[in-house]
Amino acid sequence: MEIRKSTEADKSEIEIVHIQAFGEKEGPEIAKLVNDLFEDETASPLLSLVAVKNSKIAGHVLYTKASITQTTASVSAQLLAPLAVLPEAQNQGIGTHLVREGLSQLSESGVALVFVLGHPEYYPRFGFRTAGSIGFEAPFPIAEENADAWMVVELKEGITGKVNGKVQCAEALNQPQYWRE
Ligand SMILES: CC(C)(COP(=O)(O)OP(=O)(O)OC[C@H]1O[C@@H](n2cnc3c(N)ncnc32)[C@H](O)[C@@H]1OP(=O)(O)O)[C@@H](O)C(=O)NCCC(=O)NCCS
Repeated sequence: MEIRKSTEADKSEIEIVHIQAFGEKEGPEIAKLVNDLFEDETASPLLSLVAVKNSKIAGHVLYTKASITQTTASVSAQLLAPLAVLPEAQNQGIGTHLVREGLSQLSESGVALVFVLGHPEYYPRFGFRTAGSIGFEAPFPIAEENADAWMVVELKEGITGKVNGKVQCAEALNQPQYWRE
């Protein structure tokens, strides 16, 4: 399996990955979100990685620009959304490779914090922990019962104690329907 940056030519296969992974109901909306983020200037810089297995795209992850408002310190941040692996390729480590490679590349490019709204059982293995309790407010309020789904990982050691505030995401993601876990 190869992990590489996506290209323009990958777009239709990336759509298929999201539609199949998220299912008929949610999938088309997520696929549209991905395309919107590709066109969204406020999402830049973004990092889009695909996992290729047997010449086919089996997984995709997108990281887009985030910023933290209401803080005096300047900090480089990204938001992980969405992540998807084709159903038949799940539980084979593809999601893990996509997340780890993404965090590694972002770290190298100087990103200090990466946020995600996702499965609280999945992301802690990569170092993510609850973001709300350490002072990072999500772009939209997260229901109390899903508070642990809003998570952050620090790529620069010690940064979480120094900054906090409300996280602002790309315009395409800045809609309430994407903030319900
Ligand atoms: C979640 C997802 C990206 C994981 O990718 P993957 O390649 O299957 O995952 P990996 O093989 O790297 O890791 C497997 C682990 O993830 C866990 N996992 C898979 N789906 C999960 C889910 N929905 N919630 C919590 N954990 C999940 C498995 O139980 C397994 O755990 P283990 O290592 O403790 O046994 C993939 O299942 C998927 O595309 N799901 C549908 C879309 C989705 O929910 N995207 C994530 C939005 S936050």
